[in-house]
Amino acid sequence: MITATFNNYIGGAELVKMEQGVSIMKAAILNGVGNIVGECGGQAMCATCHVIVRPEHREQLPPLSEDEDEMLDCAATARAEGSRLGCQLKAGEHFSTIEVDLPETQ
Ligand code: FES
Repeated sequence: MITATFNNYIGGAELVKMEQGVSIMKAAILNGVGNIVGECGGQAMCATCHVIVRPEHREQLPPLSEDEDEMLDCAATARAEGSRLGCQLKAGEHFSTIEVDLPETQ
């Protein structure tokens, strides 16, 4: 079973089951997790799917692409170590379990 845990900025957490190939952004929206917008539909053009991946899950992920890196500079909440675009991280392809923190604003 592939899962993602979303920690919101006020201390709550939600565990979501994910299908193979679904992005963190899409899983959050499909499961009603708050504070992820996904305005561009996953094209790495809006940064409204900003997540901060917990340290223990970062090494398994692919490196930032140039587009993702540039877009994170435009995120509403300043990027941090572990910041990624949730639309670029796919279940099964990049992780089998992951935990992310959600920024206060998108
Ligand atoms: S949904 Fe727009 S950058 Fe991820």
